[in-house]
Amino acid sequence: MKPLVGILMGSKSDWDVMSNVSQTLESLGVGCEVRVISAHRAPDALFEYVSTAEKRGLEILIAGAGGAAHLPGVCAAKTVLPVLGVPMESKSLHGMDSLLSIVQMPGGVPVGTLAIGKPGAVNAALLAVAILGIKHPEFREAYRKFREKQTKDAIANNDPRDAKA
Ligand code: RP5
Repeated sequence: MKPLVGILMGSKSDWDVMSNVSQTLESLGVGCEVRVISAHRAPDALFEYVSTAEKRGLEILIAGAGGAAHLPGVCAAKTVLPVLGVPMESKSLHGMDSLLSIVQMPGGVPVGTLAIGKPGAVNAALLAVAILGIKHPEFREAYRKFREKQTKDAIANNDPRDAKA
């Protein structure tokens, strides 16, 4: 699968959460690259990766970071590709630091910010598939099927006494 989404994270410690991005994308047939590149520890490598992303055929970047979470914002500063940000649930401030760092971009340099932790990682992937669906009909259909199945399952399993619900 040709990678269309670049998944970035600030640290290997983010992988437990960010692996949900690649798993969700792959389950819907979307290829991705995965890299650990810290905006603070390896800024030049980050600039190189992001500034060549569009030329290399990537269409969306998804960046996860925690604490002083500059990674998604720095990505957005270096590309016109859509950038989605996933705040990590940091130990000291439970991810509020990450969330506010990522969401409070200045007007003119947007980062589409998702929820803290795993729900944000899953939704970043689903939103990326929905965006790719504008250009790629097969991803629009894959996303439609996912949503239809989710609704069907929710209706079928609506008795909380049932272990499957
Ligand atoms: C951020 O600092 C990373 O995104 C990570 O969430 C956080 C802590 O990194 P480590 O100290 O675990 O490498 O840059």
